[in-house]
Amino acid sequence: MTSDEIRETFLSFFAERGHKRLPSASLVPAAFDPSVLLTTAGMHPLKPYFLGIEQPPADKLTSCQKCFRTPDIENVGVTARHLTFFEMLGNFSMGDYFKQGAVEFAWELSLEGFGFKAQDIWITVFEGDPELGIGPDEEAIAAWESVGVPRSRIVALPRSENFWQAGPNGPCGPCSELYLDRGLDFGSEDDLPGGENERFLEFWNLVFMQYDQDPPGTLTPLPAQNIDTGMGLNRMAAILQGVETVFDTDQFAPLMALGKELAQRPDDRGLRILADHTRGMTFLVADGVVPSNEDRGYVLRRLMRRAIQHGHRMGIEPGFLPRYVDVVVETMGAGYPELERERDTILKWVRAEEEGFGRTLETGLGMLDRILEAGEVSGDDAFRLHDTYGFPIDLTEEIAAERGASVDRAGFDANMEAQRVRSSAGAGASKKVGADQELVRQLATEPSRFTGYEHLEERTTVAGVAEQGGRTFVKLATSPFYAQGGGQVSDTGTVACADGDCRATVVEVLRSGEDQAVVVELEEGSLREGEEVVARVDRVARHATQCNHTATHLLHAALRQRLGTHVRQAGSYVGPDKLRFDFTHGQRLSPEELRDVEDQVNAWILRNDPVVPQTTSLDEARAKGAMALFGEKYGDVVRMVEVGDAQSTSSTGTGGIYSRELCGGTHVRSTAEIGVFRVVSEGSSASNVRRIEAVTGPEAVGLLRAHDAIAREAADALRTTPEQLVARIGALRDEAKKAAKAGAGGGNGAVDVDALAGRAEELGGFKVLTASVPVGDAKALLDAADRLKNKLGDAAIVLGAAGEGRVHLVASVAPALVERGVKAGDVVKVAAQVTGGGGGGKPTMAQAGGRDPEKLDDALAAARDAIASALGA
Ligand code: ALA
Repeated sequence: MTSDEIRETFLSFFAERGHKRLPSASLVPAAFDPSVLLTTAGMHPLKPYFLGIEQPPADKLTSCQKCFRTPDIENVGVTARHLTFFEMLGNFSMGDYFKQGAVEFAWELSLEGFGFKAQDIWITVFEGDPELGIGPDEEAIAAWESVGVPRSRIVALPRSENFWQAGPNGPCGPCSELYLDRGLDFGSEDDLPGGENERFLEFWNLVFMQYDQDPPGTLTPLPAQNIDTGMGLNRMAAILQGVETVFDTDQFAPLMALGKELAQRPDDRGLRILADHTRGMTFLVADGVVPSNEDRGYVLRRLMRRAIQHGHRMGIEPGFLPRYVDVVVETMGAGYPELERERDTILKWVRAEEEGFGRTLETGLGMLDRILEAGEVSGDDAFRLHDTYGFPIDLTEEIAAERGASVDRAGFDANMEAQRVRSSAGAGASKKVGADQELVRQLATEPSRFTGYEHLEERTTVAGVAEQGGRTFVKLATSPFYAQGGGQVSDTGTVACADGDCRATVVEVLRSGEDQAVVVELEEGSLREGEEVVARVDRVARHATQCNHTATHLLHAALRQRLGTHVRQAGSYVGPDKLRFDFTHGQRLSPEELRDVEDQVNAWILRNDPVVPQTTSLDEARAKGAMALFGEKYGDVVRMVEVGDAQSTSSTGTGGIYSRELCGGTHVRSTAEIGVFRVVSEGSSASNVRRIEAVTGPEAVGLLRAHDAIAREAADALRTTPEQLVARIGALRDEAKKAAKAGAGGGNGAVDVDALAGRAEELGGFKVLTASVPVGDAKALLDAADRLKNKLGDAAIVLGAAGEGRVHLVASVAPALVERGVKAGDVVKVAAQVTGGGGGGKPTMAQAGGRDPEKLDDALAAARDAIASALGA
């Protein structure tokens, strides 16, 4: 049976028995669940159903879910069956059948669908746990006996083996596993399922999910008794295809073959790591993850860099990851259309990461080699490898472990923390949303009906009131207030008694699924349940917010048009004051790109095209190419917002619908309401994520006016006109330069050679100086190096100067140090690589150029390392 056939056999078996087939959810879990970075099991996307927070689309479900597990990464390639990315087949019951039903289905499919012999199947069940307060699972044993499994083939195991939980807390329950006995050829008489042996292979886990664990160790019954099962598709394929490892199955064979073809020195572990990691990376990028140093992005980066390092180790020519992507898309594309759809984006990120890491890989490995020859890896070393050479800490630890050395992880973490504090990137503590959601639901039995798409004012009744923590929560029967979501902030406004004797300001709107409640501050009187009230949204703030929301969609569309379809939304803020849009992209936008994007958005605004929200099916929206947010969970019915003129299909490509997004936010009716769109800033929010802030309407006009005022004041101060300002500043600068030259005398320029010489340090008996100097060109830098050489004598000197998008580097090494192995050409090359450039020269004198001025300090540090290690210091 091929992997595709196994998948189909499983899903159609359960579909024929009343289960609704669900497509795989994204690898990026829905935003409501912060307990995992990536989807780790088929039940994960279904958690709200198990918890009773959301209504499932049917009470019996089946799916084949994309899963990713990081704890297994170091076992990949070492064992026969560990993978990071895999597909999990599952059947689920939400309060429908329980243990007996799950056992009967599993038994029938195992025998009739997959053709196993009854006497080869062994079962494990939960033996009970006094701490959890549950006894042995007699019900499961009885169920297995009822289908004919003898008691002698049912093994009871402890909590560590047969109690399943989705994380430290959440839905959980005892489980029962099915094992295939491969016979005495693979082990001995005393082997049992659950032990570490090759004779018994686990192929299916049935979880009897009936508890919520919160806090850890405390079980409360879930609203219903549920079933969650998991069968690893790849492990099943290995069994049914009669092969020893998952890497010999049909999904992996083409990837293994590619590795053999490319590698000069192939080895099994390396080939398997490449096969697994390239699959994982391809699927992660297809689901919107981009390489970075945090969270999911780090998982992806680690996977890619680990693959790159093993490829390098096996002698594979650089630029190989894209070839793996092609094979993954070919093998898996039929089941996962997103791979083909996102192919260009996947290739782009994969190429960029391989090129980026490739530039520093050799130098970093060289440095790590020298460190390991000398002994252990200090926290500072590990940090430098991470910060300057892009070595994920886990990779450094692994390479060190292979050589029997350890890494000072605590020292590394301290460095990272110090850096985090330096860049004060610490995000605010994430708010616990669960408690608020619970409160919203309990305020009244009927959910609040949101009418704010159509109405900004509503005559309605108070359905429930509660005081908690000094705040007043009110649930309105119908509410025009938008509750924060999809990046858009909550509406503000007022709630007043219809008879005029109370008044309150709405300061926040809490969302719980489709339901909501407002938080109010009472100005006058009191609000009681059953009270007739008039709810009014603050129109000015709401309209400004709508302008910013529609503008966000236009910005997204313009960025994709100008930069490419790898641009995806990675976060947003939409308020009355401004909009902020984070998106995946690897480089700073050039002034031209930014101008084009701004022009395009303003051109669309001028066209006064309609903005049309509509309700449609998820399939229909997908078919029309609507942008969906990665990690967002969508039901079958979705709200889609279109912008453009469907009637006009001009040949210049300016007409038609140009923006289509799934979105629950509020929007203007036509683009011209936005008035004007102005970008305020462009920067980076994380690696490979850029951030644009912009303003619209009156806010934008105010900004332009403020800029005019600044120009006028500056012109007044320089006694000129705003139009002449630039020329006047140029003239002043020339004068200042001339004055400085005249004042310095002897052409010493601005470099204080004495002060620099004082900063030289002693390393291995020689003077070593690495410093950045504020000069504008390579010639001035050479001059400074020359003069320092005369001052310092037997020394190694590396100077760097940062310019506009450029870095100059020069190294000067005295012959006595050259003899000790310090070569100016090598040193300058190491530094140049860090700044994304190259260069070289003689052992005593060399020059180089780089592209990234922000990396100058790192580059100089790298040069110092290279000198120090050559000197053995
Ligand atoms: N959720 C269970 C597992 O992952 C089925 O094994």
